[in-house]
Amino acid sequence: MIYFPDAGQMKAADRYTIDVLGIPSLELMERAAESCVQIMEAEGIDLSKICVICGSGNNGGDGFAIARMLKEKKLDVELVFIGKEVSCTEETRRQMQLFQKVGGRISNTYEEKEYSVIVDAIFGVGLSRPIEGKYFEIIESLNRSKAVRVAVDIPSGISADTGCVMGTAVRADLTVTFQKRKLGLIFYPGCEYAGRVFIADIGICTEKMEEDAETVFSYEPSLFSELLPERKPDSHKGTYGKVLIIAGSKGMAGAAYLNALSAYRTGAGLVQIYTVEENRMILQQLLPEAIITAYDSYDEEEVRGLLTWADVVCIGSGIGVNECSEKILEMVVKNVQVPCVVDADGLNILAGHPQYLEGISAGQFVFTPHLKEMSRLTRIDVETLKSRRIDAARAFAEKYPVVCVMKDARTVVACAGRQTYVNISGNAAMAKAGSGDVLAGIITGLLAQGKDCFEGACIGVLLHGMAGDAAKVEKGSYSVLARELADGIAAVLSRK
Ligand code: APR
Repeated sequence: MIYFPDAGQMKAADRYTIDVLGIPSLELMERAAESCVQIMEAEGIDLSKICVICGSGNNGGDGFAIARMLKEKKLDVELVFIGKEVSCTEETRRQMQLFQKVGGRISNTYEEKEYSVIVDAIFGVGLSRPIEGKYFEIIESLNRSKAVRVAVDIPSGISADTGCVMGTAVRADLTVTFQKRKLGLIFYPGCEYAGRVFIADIGICTEKMEEDAETVFSYEPSLFSELLPERKPDSHKGTYGKVLIIAGSKGMAGAAYLNALSAYRTGAGLVQIYTVEENRMILQQLLPEAIITAYDSYDEEEVRGLLTWADVVCIGSGIGVNECSEKILEMVVKNVQVPCVVDADGLNILAGHPQYLEGISAGQFVFTPHLKEMSRLTRIDVETLKSRRIDAARAFAEKYPVVCVMKDARTVVACAGRQTYVNISGNAAMAKAGSGDVLAGIITGLLAQGKDCFEGACIGVLLHGMAGDAAKVEKGSYSVLARELADGIAAVLSRK
């Protein structure tokens, strides 16, 4: 597992290392600075004319130490201190003195010059409000420079908790972050502002954070095969689950096809599609491996019978929002006894009928909203959701209680009582119609094979992204079709 701390967790880990393990804060700063210098050298960065810009917090202290170490190497280093001396932390003041002791001079104004590299040590994880005034001007000016920009820990202006730009932010070419990649370096736009990220182990103890229920984690894609359900030699189709897909309205056969195809490709044993009569022929031809049951109008007994048959249900992709789909959804949500994935129009219907969710069992449902659907469900606007992704997904997952898969370039999976997952696989080739239908099918396929709702959702999101990465290799960023993501599933799973 990979863990992504927020600012509060990183500060707590720092304190623990200093207070309990007895490693002095100044020593951590020395290690941080050494690692930055080493990485800059190893990356072959032109160090012929260096500018280090420091703020008054400990990030600035790291900057002073970097400047001193570079100066000791007889390099041409200018240091600009743009913090307030009164606000300096004790360690930063000490580092300032050490820099001066080696003959370092401190300027308080930044001038645009032909630097080969600029080291950004203005704000680290301690940034607590939007950047304004002279800080704003200087960061904008840094971004105009042709110099290589190296950020210490996190680019100044990026929130370590959300990856949002707080007014303005340094656009770094490279970021050296300490101990763990901060959440703000995972979420967009923070991860883009960071450039290439290097993680330096400086001995901060993060074990407590790793056990914390509030912690955000991801799976290591290289260890993916260990997460997959077992495929036993003496198995049969019943071993891997009977999947009921309720999807597709007139003109939306593709949604049902992609759901069903992806569930099969992920390993489900038997898939039945319940769809409108118009889709029967096309689906039978597209996917002869699936059972097709079709309806003209709402038939409660038929739905009840299908629910009795299924080991797992996936409902919502392309079902439309109409009287019939509403009735089917209400019936399913209120009566289903097995794990159930709700996607797309299923969620749009629930946004208008939250009462259907009263009394649902905890941990039985997986909801897969993209940000707009999430906004409809929560009545929180998309921009606010972006600025508090983790909190929003967690609050939703606790309220209903469901596994909430909040989809975006970095999908978040939240479930009450579990650490929160953030996904790091996938690419922009997947930003296309049908991609979500594939994800719903993948998750359903994993639930059919016995994964619990939370694990199935996390592994499913990871697999979906990896399938997208495989499809991109074949077709490039522009041309990948959703059905090729299903081919990507096969490419990924065949590596096992
Ligand atoms: N504008 C001006 N000052 C601000 C702003 C802002 N928008 N936001 C925070 N500050 C001030 C704070 O009041 C504090 O004095 O900046 C300082 C925070 O600076 P940081 O260096 O980010 O925080 P700190 O906790 O001291 O250090 C954390 O130290 O361990 C190193 O680099 C590592 O990121 C880490 C950093």
